[in-house]
Amino acid sequence: MIKGIIMAGGLGTRLYPTTKVVNKHLLPIFNKPLIFYPISVLLLSGVKNILIITKKEDYESFKKLLNDGSHLGIKISYKFQKKPGGIPEGIVLSEDFIGKDKFIFALGDNIFFGEKFSKILENIQNFKHGCVLFTSRVNDPKRFGILYKDKKNNLKKIVEKPKKPLNNLAVTGLYIYDHLAIKYAKTLKRSNRKEKEITDLNNIYIKKKKAKEIELGRSFSWLDAGTHEAFLTASNLISIYEKRTNAQIGCLEEIAYKKKLISKKEFNKVIKQIKETKLKNYLKNLL
Ligand code: G1P
Repeated sequence: MIKGIIMAGGLGTRLYPTTKVVNKHLLPIFNKPLIFYPISVLLLSGVKNILIITKKEDYESFKKLLNDGSHLGIKISYKFQKKPGGIPEGIVLSEDFIGKDKFIFALGDNIFFGEKFSKILENIQNFKHGCVLFTSRVNDPKRFGILYKDKKNNLKKIVEKPKKPLNNLAVTGLYIYDHLAIKYAKTLKRSNRKEKEITDLNNIYIKKKKAKEIELGRSFSWLDAGTHEAFLTASNLISIYEKRTNAQIGCLEEIAYKKKLISKKEFNKVIKQIKETKLKNYLKNLL
């Protein structure tokens, strides 16, 4: 069974002062805390065992919000990153959790939604070995890891935040790895920005011809909530979508119920614990 890891640490420097007392991943994107969106991606992928990597001082808040995941029919545990040393450090810290299993590695500030995404995610359970990268076209390639391919469409390499990007195919913050990622992540050196780079890990897989790419098409929305503007854009997009369709994005209780992670009886119990809100009505209507 594939496991899930979410990176939810970091200093949130670019979002200061909103992140002075609150962890970035607990701040709202429209009507839910940011972390609900990557959790929803994991639930839709059939993951039942999630490790959240965060800072020790934020543990109580995460625990209050998500507890051990049992209300969603899953297991959520926590691990602490002492100081930010780069994304791949999260993989090394998760060594015991991963064991010999495959895992989805999600950056806690990446939001995905779109048509057919659930279908793609369901197929993740067939993943055997190597790594899978999800890419998306962007208008600001200098901000991301950019994937280069040869004429035959074979993956060549990823360049992290290229000064002169040759294309705009960005690698998103959602990755699938086999357990060898732990071994590779341990060999990485710090980059110019004094952090170990997830791009260097992905390039190891590309070099070994063990990386696969899935390009998310135009009907997808991928947002990384790293700036105040990005928070606002994501909130607006989700609010418009929810108003139009009357369906929620990232509603964990709904996904848990629909994916049969919890029974109707358990779902009812969850609803009972929610105060009179729009969310309560929305969930009641699903019954
Ligand atoms: C990180 C990765 C980058 C990727 C991006 C996606 O960038 O290093 O390759 O494209 O996440 O959100 P960072 O957020 O650390 O700047």
